[in-house]
Amino acid sequence: MLTAYDYPMGRLLDEAGVDIVLVGDSVANVVLGLESTTDVGMTEMLHHAKAVRRGVKRALLVGDMPFDSYQTHTEDALMNAKRFIDEAGCDAVKLEWFDQCLDVAENIVKAGIAVMGHVGLTPQTAEKLGGFKVQGKEAADAQLILKHAQALEEAGCFSIVLECMPSELAQLITKKLSIPTIGIGAGVHCDGQVLVTHDALGLISRHHPKFVKTFFDLNKGVLDGVKVYCDEVRNGQFPDEEHSFGMNAAELEKLEGEK
Ligand code: KIV
Repeated sequence: MLTAYDYPMGRLLDEAGVDIVLVGDSVANVVLGLESTTDVGMTEMLHHAKAVRRGVKRALLVGDMPFDSYQTHTEDALMNAKRFIDEAGCDAVKLEWFDQCLDVAENIVKAGIAVMGHVGLTPQTAEKLGGFKVQGKEAADAQLILKHAQALEEAGCFSIVLECMPSELAQLITKKLSIPTIGIGAGVHCDGQVLVTHDALGLISRHHPKFVKTFFDLNKGVLDGVKVYCDEVRNGQFPDEEHSFGMNAAELEKLEGEK
């Protein structure tokens, strides 16, 4: 699984063979330049999800429910989940663990919408977890995360994201659950993996947690390309004849004669 926020990236991920495309609320940080994922709402998420949908033909498309759409007024959660499916054309929604998430997840599943859970480090409520740090390092905390994962499976989730936890804990959860686990900073024993695409492709230069691997340096590629463009425009190399339109000589003469 990888994230996409617009049509071209949705198309590229789909074409490259990714199984699941997530329209993550990480759009807040990596595309909109906002501080927190809680700074985006349904309007932004639907706008981006619709664009990604146009590019994704094969992979499963999951819409990430923004904080306000299910955690502040739980009674609105089902309506907002439906909007991801009906308006944006998503195949499923994802929601993060919070104290009322089991009722919310169950309600959405009962309405026939596939729900992906998310436990461990849950960025929308990271402050309550002591910030952006590894979760479940101590046995009691690990036990709680396992319970959360099992409860989400029982609530009907079809898969679950395990974020930022020791590999051993993710391995245990993966063994105990029958639904697929998708890890991010959770080691190699999960059934699948996810990263934020802008991190994985080096499209954004920001502080990376240890679990991020940059597979390609698009930041450098874009900078190099833009610098060449600026140079060529400034020194008159671009546009050359190959990239310009010409005028029929007779028409040109007429035009010049009109001066
Ligand atoms: O918003 C997001 O990108 C996510 C993934 C990193 C799991 O939730």
